[in-house]
Amino acid sequence: MILTVEPAGSGLHGELTPPGDKSISHRALIFSSLAEGQSELSGLLESGDTLATMKACQQLGAGVERSPGKIYVTGTGGTLSPPSGGLLDMGNSGTAMRLLAGVLSGQNFDCTLSGDDSLNSRPMGRIVAPLTLMGADIRATEKGTAPLSIHACGGLRGIEYVSPVASAQIKSCVLLAGLFASGSTHVLEPRLSRDHTERMLPLFGVKLPAPCRVNGGSRLKATSFLVPADISSAVFSLAAGAMTPGSIVKVQRVGLNPTRTGFLHCLEAMGADFGISNKSAGSAEPVGDIHLKFTKGLKAIDVPESLVPDMIDEIPLLMVLAATASGTTRIRGAAELRVKESDRLAVMAAGLRKLGVELQEYPDGIDIQGGPVSGGRVESAGDHRCAMSFAVLGLVSAAPIQIEQAEYISTSYPGFVSDMSSLGANMHKGDPS
Ligand code: S3P
Repeated sequence: MILTVEPAGSGLHGELTPPGDKSISHRALIFSSLAEGQSELSGLLESGDTLATMKACQQLGAGVERSPGKIYVTGTGGTLSPPSGGLLDMGNSGTAMRLLAGVLSGQNFDCTLSGDDSLNSRPMGRIVAPLTLMGADIRATEKGTAPLSIHACGGLRGIEYVSPVASAQIKSCVLLAGLFASGSTHVLEPRLSRDHTERMLPLFGVKLPAPCRVNGGSRLKATSFLVPADISSAVFSLAAGAMTPGSIVKVQRVGLNPTRTGFLHCLEAMGADFGISNKSAGSAEPVGDIHLKFTKGLKAIDVPESLVPDMIDEIPLLMVLAATASGTTRIRGAAELRVKESDRLAVMAAGLRKLGVELQEYPDGIDIQGGPVSGGRVESAGDHRCAMSFAVLGLVSAAPIQIEQAEYISTSYPGFVSDMSSLGANMHKGDPS
């Protein structure tokens, strides 16, 4: 599907609640499927990625009932059932595959985890290595990618794992396997990655004896959980408002976990005018409303490398802000972007170049010279975040931007076009009007 975005004639106005947080929704579904009893999940994201997790949880024996605004999950008490046919399809979702690989390595049956072409080309050696150290029988392809075949191994042992990458998917995979291992399991990472697993497990009755450490044999108990709105989706409205003169926008009930707010720090450093109100503790995760008013054009920044893990999914959008800011924005320490749903550095660089933006790509980052942006047709490479980032750029380009493979937006934000339209953006399927 081609999505066309027409330049905004005037500022964007309005308020909206973005969809539920994707990372937290995956965990809420997996943890409640492992728990004893029925959990009530509110605000859960229902998108391509999380529906893949929901379906896998059902195939593994959890009961799922959907009612408006709520999902009730009847857990398995920790003993999952083998999926019929032995295969689980994780679609486009790296989080679903890596977290469930941890859980399934500790089960008493064989199964295979596979996904779409994008997911089956992403690196899985990063989880196969620690799981193998724990005694799991898990095999990837020769290239270190999925399909992953997991065989009953007769019992895992706890490990202390020093992860080479600050990755919440690796950390969570190992900690979840640790729940089924003997002894305790501890993960150390070069920098704290998003800590939803550590925050949420205690709500499901699991005591962590120390940060990033779990005891084998811990049982999960059902709970009620409210998923905050996804900051990784909220940022599209904020960025659109920060770039489009005359805008006033508000996003509500947004998760403000400090391991996820790197983009807000950059937005502030670039000169955007926004504030946060209605702060509250939420279910294990801080939330608040963010209101932004366009006051002046943005300026380029050097993105501190230490912030990169806290905004890893927002860097494509930051590149778009950089393309219109005055000066040269420098991003480094972001090599992980090359192994996301696409090689996001390459996809964004190719699209921005096509739109007349001057830039220099590096193995782990990019320099972007802000300036006028022309219209044109760009490839999203089936990557939801690249597609939405280009869509936001179309609001301030000289002519419409057309985005290919925009149907992948539903991976994380099925209501993106209608939310942006409610703020006054002109986005529609097909060619320019
Ligand atoms: C996620 C962790 C991040 C992020 C992804 C979701 C998670 O990946 O990019 O969208 O839910 O744990 P990495 O752990 O590979 O950095």
